Amino acid sequence: MTETLTSPTAVAADSLLVRACRREPTERTPIWLMRQAGRYMPEYRLLRSRQTMLEAIGDPATAAEITLQPVERIGVDAAIVFSDILAPLPGMGLDLDFVAGAGPRISNPIRTAAAVDRLPTPPAEDTIAGTIGAIRLVKQALEPRGIPVIGFSGAPFTLACYAIEGGGSQRYEVAKEFMYREPAAWSRLMRRLVTVLTDCLLAQARAGADILQVFDSWAGALGPGDYARYVRPYNTVLFAAVASAGVPVINFSTGSGSYFEEVAACGGDVLGVDWRTPLDVVRGRLGDRIAVMGNLDPVTLLAPWRELKAHADDVLHRAGDAPGHVFNLGHGVLPTTPVDNVRRLVDYVKETSGRPGE
Ligand code: CP3
Repeated sequence: MTETLTSPTAVAADSLLVRACRREPTERTPIWLMRQAGRYMPEYRLLRSRQTMLEAIGDPATAAEITLQPVERIGVDAAIVFSDILAPLPGMGLDLDFVAGAGPRISNPIRTAAAVDRLPTPPAEDTIAGTIGAIRLVKQALEPRGIPVIGFSGAPFTLACYAIEGGGSQRYEVAKEFMYREPAAWSRLMRRLVTVLTDCLLAQARAGADILQVFDSWAGALGPGDYARYVRPYNTVLFAAVASAGVPVINFSTGSGSYFEEVAACGGDVLGVDWRTPLDVVRGRLGDRIAVMGNLDPVTLLAPWRELKAHADDVLHRAGDAPGHVFNLGHGVLPTTPVDNVRRLVDYVKETSGRPGE
C-alpha cells in the first residue's frame, strides 16, 4: 500500500498508533520500537559523546533532538521521549549515575524501613523537568505531521528493585528479601513510588504526550502469587489514576507470560508482551478486552533478512486481523543492531500489514 502522506489535517490524537491502542480499525499496523533512540545509531553516539546520560536527559534541547532521530532515520510511527525509567530517582534523594559499560548505579540504595520513610515524593516539575521540556519541544515538531509522542515511567516494582539493589541484578534477591522481610515498609515504598510516578505520567500528558507507557521490565522476577500480593494493588492504583489523563496507556512487562491475566487486570489500554508468548495465545486468553503490543525478539534484528522477515510475518500473522495490534519488539533494541535492519523491518511492516489477506 502507498504510505498515506500526512495532510495538514493530520492530528496525533487520530494517528494510527492512538487508534490501534484504542482497538479501532487502522489501514495498517502501526510500528515503533522500544529503545528506538540509542547506541545502535551513530547520530545518537555522536550527541551522547558530548554529555553524560543524566545531562542529556536533563537538557530539553538534547533530549528532544535524540527523541526525533529515529523518527527521521527509521520512519517509526511514534516518538518516545528520550529519558530513562530511573530519571525520577535523584529527585527522591537517590544518588544515581550511569556508569559506562556497567549500567545504572545508586550509591545510597534503600536497605531499611527508616530509609523508606525518609524518601520524599517531589512533584514531576522537580524530578523530570528536562523530560517535560523535551516533550513540549518534540510535540511542536511532530504535531504538524500527525506523529504521536509517547511519555513513560517505570512501574513501582521495577523502580523499587533498582532503588533497593542499587543497580541491575540477575535475581533481585536483595529487593525480594526486603519485600518478604519488611512487607509494611515495602508497601510504604510502593505507595511513595506510585505517588511520584503518577505525577510524572500526568505531567508528561499535560506537556503533550499522546500515549503513556509504564515499563515493568522486571515483573517476571516474581511468581504469580507474589505478583498478586506485592505488585498488583499498587499498579492498580497507578493505572486508575493515570487513566484520568485521557490518553491511551501501555502496560509493558517482561517474563510475566504465565500470569498476564493478572498483569492486564492492573489496568492500561494496551498490554506490552515479550517474545516468550505468541500473540495469538495472549489474544486467546484475554479476548478483545485489551489491545496488544509486541512482540518480535530483539535478537532477530541481528539475523539475516530471511529470518527477520519470517519472524516479523509470524508476529503479524499471530496478531491476526482484529483491531488493536501495535507492532514492537518484545524488549528494547540491542546496541549491536545494524541500523539498516531496523529500517528494513519498519518499511516491511508498514508495507505488508496494509495488504489485506497477508
Ligand atoms: O525507548 C527509547 O528509545 C527511550 C529511551 C529509554 C531509555 N531507557 C534510554 C537509555 C527508555 C524507554 C528506557 C527505559 C529503561 N531504562 C528501562 C525499561 C525498559 C527495559 O529496557 O527494560 C530500564 C530497565 C532502564 C534502566 C537502564 N537504563 C539500564 C539497565 C541501562 C543500562 C543498560 C543499557 O542499555 O545501556 C540504562 C541506560 C540507558 N537508558 C541507555 C539509553 C539509551 C544507554 C545509555 C548510553 O548511551 O550509554
